[in-house]
Amino acid sequence: MITIDGPLGSGKGTIANALASQLGWHLLDSGALYRLVAIAALDAGLGPGDEEALAELAARLDVQFADSGDDQETKLNGARVGARLRSQEVSAMASRVAALAGVRAAIVKRQQDFRRPPGLVADGRDMGTVIFPDAPLKIYLTASVEVRAQRRYKQLKEKGESVNLSRLFRDIEERDKRDRTRRIAPLRPAADAVIIDSSELSIKEVLAKIKHLLEEKDISI
Ligand code: DC
Repeated sequence: MITIDGPLGSGKGTIANALASQLGWHLLDSGALYRLVAIAALDAGLGPGDEEALAELAARLDVQFADSGDDQETKLNGARVGARLRSQEVSAMASRVAALAGVRAAIVKRQQDFRRPPGLVADGRDMGTVIFPDAPLKIYLTASVEVRAQRRYKQLKEKGESVNLSRLFRDIEERDKRDRTRRIAPLRPAADAVIIDSSELSIKEVLAKIKHLLEEKDISI
């Protein structure tokens, strides 16, 4: 069991994906779960203030993920959600629904059920602190806001979304603040997490660091 937590744009999704595929382990993209709750909420016309209805919706959510982490295979109520999963509208709503205790409680067990042999790589904000506190290897991946905004800008551009870099920078700062200061499961490194700053590192270099940590723990890759 490996947890990778960190803010948006830290590269945790990419790293978790690569690790899971190299180890032949399962993958839990917990942010995608919150994003799917957000999509279902938007479609149902619910706002961030409708906590009870949102918690109920989260508990009932019918979702499907591919172990490959391929977004194209992610389904909500049997239908592919496609590029909408990573859109700015859904990102903003996901951050709001993720701040609600009822919504978080509704999906704790669903997340823990992803832990199956031969192993699980779970990425999110509270994987090491709340959902899998006994994970033997916990990574907290971070990077400067500037670097994260640039990465996100490139990602959205490639997907054909129209984006404004300074707005993105502000959005990221705002979302970070909300994720870090919320009362429930705030974004923070677990006491026993290894902190990796990826601002100056390539994906390959981050993976090499984690592989080294795995070797130290005798997990072969
Ligand atoms: O990692 P992401 O950007 O896909 O996450 C979407 C939102 O969900 C983000 O605002 C933080 C929230 N989230 C969370 O609160 N807890 C998690 N374990 C994962 C994501």
